[in-house]
Amino acid sequence: MSRLSERPTNPVVGQEIPHEAAALHVTGRALYTDDLVGRTADVLHAWPVQAPHARATVTALRTDPAYAVDGVVRVLTAADVPGVNDAGVKHDEPLFPTEVMYVGHAVCWVLGETLEAARLGAAAVEVDYDPHPAIVTVREAIAAEAFQGAQPRLERGDVEAAFARSARVLSGEIEFAGQEHFYLETHCSLALVDENGQIFAQSSTQHPSETQEIIAHVLGVPSNEVTVQCLRMGGGFGGKEMQPHGLAAIAALGSTLTGRPVRLRLNRTQDITMTGKRHGFHAEWRVGFDEEGRLQALDATLTADGGWSLDLSEPVLARALCHIDNAYWIPDVRVNGRIARTHKTSQTAFRGFGGPQGMLVIEDILGRCAPLLGIDPAELRRRNFYVDGQSTPYGQTVRHPERLVTAWDSVVAGGELERRRAEIEAFNAGHDDTKRALAITPVKFGISFNLTAFNQAGALVHVYKDGSVLINHGGTEMGQGLHTKMLQVAATTLGVPLHRVRLAPTRTDKVPNTSATAASSGADLNGGAVKNACEQIRERLAQVAAGTLGVHPGDVRFDDGIAHAVGGAGEQIAWDDLVERAYFQRVQLWAAGFYRTEGLHWDSSQMQGSPFKYFAYGVAATEVEVDGYTGAYRTLRVDIVHDVGDSLSPLVDVGQIEGGFVQGAGWLTLEDLRWDESDGPARGRLATQSASTYKLPSFSEMPEVFNVSLLEHAHEEGAVYGSKAVGEPPLMLAFSVREALRQAAAAFGPEGTSVDLASPATPEAVYWAIESARAQHAADRATEHAASAGMTLGDHAPAPEQPSDDAPRLRPDSEQVSAGVTAGAGR
Ligand code: MTE
Ligand code: MOS
Repeated sequence: MSRLSERPTNPVVGQEIPHEAAALHVTGRALYTDDLVGRTADVLHAWPVQAPHARATVTALRTDPAYAVDGVVRVLTAADVPGVNDAGVKHDEPLFPTEVMYVGHAVCWVLGETLEAARLGAAAVEVDYDPHPAIVTVREAIAAEAFQGAQPRLERGDVEAAFARSARVLSGEIEFAGQEHFYLETHCSLALVDENGQIFAQSSTQHPSETQEIIAHVLGVPSNEVTVQCLRMGGGFGGKEMQPHGLAAIAALGSTLTGRPVRLRLNRTQDITMTGKRHGFHAEWRVGFDEEGRLQALDATLTADGGWSLDLSEPVLARALCHIDNAYWIPDVRVNGRIARTHKTSQTAFRGFGGPQGMLVIEDILGRCAPLLGIDPAELRRRNFYVDGQSTPYGQTVRHPERLVTAWDSVVAGGELERRRAEIEAFNAGHDDTKRALAITPVKFGISFNLTAFNQAGALVHVYKDGSVLINHGGTEMGQGLHTKMLQVAATTLGVPLHRVRLAPTRTDKVPNTSATAASSGADLNGGAVKNACEQIRERLAQVAAGTLGVHPGDVRFDDGIAHAVGGAGEQIAWDDLVERAYFQRVQLWAAGFYRTEGLHWDSSQMQGSPFKYFAYGVAATEVEVDGYTGAYRTLRVDIVHDVGDSLSPLVDVGQIEGGFVQGAGWLTLEDLRWDESDGPARGRLATQSASTYKLPSFSEMPEVFNVSLLEHAHEEGAVYGSKAVGEPPLMLAFSVREALRQAAAAFGPEGTSVDLASPATPEAVYWAIESARAQHAADRATEHAASAGMTLGDHAPAPEQPSDDAPRLRPDSEQVSAGVTAGAGR
């Protein structure tokens, strides 16, 4: 056991406690950035002027009419920017653009005494546009070769040789949708300038340090003149990792120009039309299997739909490439990646950060190929698991692959899969118009930022003279329970009861140069830093206690607010007394902590290295029931076993697993982003602008039975108190829902039917998948008559008529022909 991972006796970590702010959340007393507006005097409100074109040049901008509106105080334009007119770190995101790049792009901002004044002022601004042709879909971008950023290649071995030795080679194509974050709290910032010209910006940001840097470069001031604070977020999900910066910079700019506090809160329509989403992808693939269905080779090209600017598209793509293997050993691999530039919002981080997209490709491949190989999909997956000693295509050894097997077996046993599969078979045999299916899928997800430098964190811990403790760390709270875990870590390390520790909001003047709270590594990184700060204080206090106890400082233990000698016998000193004594001895009672994850290296140009500290594992089994008339479905039961190491906070972790799974199921089945792809005047407009047209998971879509358990005996040496990250990995457990829907649709066809399923697998998409499966019956009858020797497994009947111009998505290849039917929403 490592020093980092070892727990003392009676640790506060591991206790099942509610989220630190749960009571505040449910009573409405929790403060969010926008709640501060009512507590701040003389606030001005900001409203954007949004462009109606997907691509256009701004030829004229007349702000005078806005000033004629009552209550308008200031119109912010490019001319006002004293520093760099850019909202990003790649310098491809002008804050005030002269080239409009997507429908809804803000060309300038109006500040008003009231929100209504600002809105009317924005409506009065006159903008002349010279529209240009726009690229809206990823397919259009591919055809036009409109790419941006790096085009990485991940390669191991010799794929062509591996295809040559493969018994079966199949190929296909898939395009799948992005996802709107739909955090409850939309983007918000409130900036003010103090009497020294110091800028203080409150922001709903996952990355306060970067928000600070961008405010500084927009204003042309050094970082020490800007402080950013994040109280908490009402959800971030990656959407507030990069996107808050420009908005905070607008508020800060407005504040420096007017001398008044400026509030910028996007309403839902603005948020959904202006800010980036999960990347949809297009993928083309060729895969080789041996006689037993073991993966031999994979050749794939992944194209991420990046939207108008780079944003986080490059690291998202890198993570997609690093997760295309998921849990499976593929000896020879070649994966090319590229980023389409489309005239849409700039797609960004979203829980999983490309990992889900990479994994969707391999899970889709296995789900489509299993019937063609004549192997049960669960068996096909299980057979291809990594085993000890193997490494990923990017060269990292896969440690603890046996955990996949343990989790898998425990889902199979706990979920009574054998019995239920027999029941499902009997049910399906007795029902022509309703079918059930059960699918089980694994997750392996790499933990750490690919970019090694980001894997560092800081903390500041104060012990006051009365023995109370105040902690600060670089991470932000967005509902994921990071602060709860950090309180538990501090209480554990100092050996004090939890109630003696308080946590103050995240601020850049407390802990500088922080990384985004992202990549699920918030607890690993900040936990390491909090623990380090607390250890420094504890060691100093041990010196003080050792004198009184008459033992060596190394033999002093702290437990539940008592210092005593190891073994527990003899004298004791209460924490408060010890702290007071230390103060009078002039012992420093506070410390700054630091943590860097050891052992990481990554060469992004070669796509090789060991970028991840460890892998998080999980397995889910999902049973669905599908209606053959409508494609409507229900999720009957979900069983999950997930690896969180030795949990820091089990209630929080179970909540993360449930929430992640449901959010993943939303992405894969319900949430259907539609962009206007027509040639009409609304081309490029997001058609699904609110919850009325964009279907989020709600209570009615919850699994009727939902069993979540944590993998046992899962201590992780490399992380704080033996825990593992939990924020993102469970999202990908939702592949079990998608695969169950595919199998249920296939059950409408004959044995061995391979079904292409669109993503999201909306009821409409499932309906088309069912239709294609049904068409197989007709095709099989035709085959019987033809008795043609040339026919191979996977020769499919022509697709039924459907309102879609999509190309077939399983294409002929060396051996296989599968004119697979496209489901309605290939898009
Ligand atoms: N859980 C809640 N409730 N709200 C969120 O916004 N974001 C997710 C995940 N869980 C999120 C969440 C994402 S995208 C990440 S990267 C992690 O939390 C970030 O927090 P962590 O590093 O502390 O796990
Ligand atoms: Mo999470 S997508 O890494 O913020």
